Amino acid sequence: MQIQVQDLEHRYQSAGSPALSKLSHTFEAGTLTGITGPSGAGKSTLLYLLALMLTPSAGSIRWDDQDVQDLADADRARLRARHVGFVFQDAVLDLSRTALDNVMEAGWLAGLRREESASRAQELLDRFGVGARATYRPGEVSGGQAQRIALCRALVKNPEIIFADEPTGNLDSESADVVWRALADAASEGAIVIVATHDSKRVAKLPNRLQLVP
Ligand SMILES: Nc1ncnc2c1ncn2[C@@H]1O[C@H](COP(=O)(O)OP(=O)(O)OP(=O)(O)O)[C@@H](O)[C@H]1O
Ligand SMILES: [Mg+2]
Repeated sequence: MQIQVQDLEHRYQSAGSPALSKLSHTFEAGTLTGITGPSGAGKSTLLYLLALMLTPSAGSIRWDDQDVQDLADADRARLRARHVGFVFQDAVLDLSRTALDNVMEAGWLAGLRREESASRAQELLDRFGVGARATYRPGEVSGGQAQRIALCRALVKNPEIIFADEPTGNLDSESADVVWRALADAASEGAIVIVATHDSKRVAKLPNRLQLVP
């Protein structure tokens, strides 16, 4: 699979200066790309556009041969549920449900059976060191734990495309290692993995980098 953007531009208000301007780039399956740039450069905006959560003001986004920038909301939602795992900059979990349910739900929405979703969810929570928090609600865990639960939710459906927005911002370096390793593993298994981060030391080691300028 491939995601190709051409002259991509986004303005949040018609009068304001663009949050992202004239970006052209291709993201290939099996690669992990680090998106860098100062605060306000448009990293989160780019991820929202690529993940079909925002409609660009100009330019095109292709997933393989399909133009996806102008799809109807329901079609975008279906593509996202099936193919995309997204880790938001601030976790964004359902506060009324347990960690396990938060993760499992993403599996169901992608079409996994209940038992499969549950076992994969628990496996992932264990892998990222938050298995013992499976029955806790997001309000009862730390920021770094919530971030790891959000990563589990993104990974549970084995998505072809993974977006992670500053996924290690609240983590100690040992937990961050585990997260970066998991993202690299997903890429080596064939996913397109795109990570926005201020962690310039890690990004320096990545073969694929995209720097945004405000
Ligand atoms: N909902 C919004 N409405 C209006 N402007 C917005 C909105 N979201 C972001 N912006 C503006 O768009 C620009 C890009 O923001 P964005 O969040 O993409 O930056 P970023 O690179 O992710 O920054 P950070 O490193 O702080 O997360 C900024 O100038 C920001 O103020
Ligand atoms: Mg951001």
